[in-house]
Amino acid sequence: MQSLQQKASEWSGVKLEDAFAIDETNLFQTLGLQAFIDLSTNFYGRVYADEEEWFLSIFSNSKKEDAIRNQYEFFVQRMGGPPLYSERRGHPALIGRHRPFPVTHQAAERWLHHMNAALDTTSNIDPDSKLKMKNFFRHTAFFLVAGDEMKNRTQGFACKHGAAKAPTM
Ligand code: HEM
Repeated sequence: MQSLQQKASEWSGVKLEDAFAIDETNLFQTLGLQAFIDLSTNFYGRVYADEEEWFLSIFSNSKKEDAIRNQYEFFVQRMGGPPLYSERRGHPALIGRHRPFPVTHQAAERWLHHMNAALDTTSNIDPDSKLKMKNFFRHTAFFLVAGDEMKNRTQGFACKHGAAKAPTM
């Protein structure tokens, strides 16, 4: 049986080594905290302004400010920074936390549409960091789609998508 990561590679078109090239460097040190705050603010500004009601409605129970903080704290932690996310929210457990939401192929493409636009319009993210982040996000988005298809299972999934390099949890 295909693993969720294999499915994610097949559906996203991103090889595992490209998805996890974020671990070959420390993007937090390269970019700094403000770049991550700016990226998530930019991303959720786009999400909450989306004219596609089906996509916007996925976020209807979340407050924009909370969503921004949840996201950038996770990115900071996952990309070499301090464990801000786990200190406040616990283990990322991305598949489990996305369980309430319809994470379909279409939703993944819409999420990535906004994230790629946010990456392209956030200053101080150099082209190499941007490419690494795009590959990680695309692979993770389709990892979540693969997880969504297993919604009825109850066990957790260990994965590199949520694990920081340092033992933070
Ligand atoms: C594939 C399409 C995706 C959809 C439709 C989606 C949807 C959502 C929604 C509705 C939330 C709740 C907002 C909040 O209150 O924080 C959320 C949270 C979150 N998402 Fe996603 N997401 C997607 C992809 C991703 C990807 C690719 C990542 C990581 C690279 C990610 C990381 C997170 C994190 C860290 C949270 C906060 C979880 C928490 O602390 O509760 N998501 N997502």
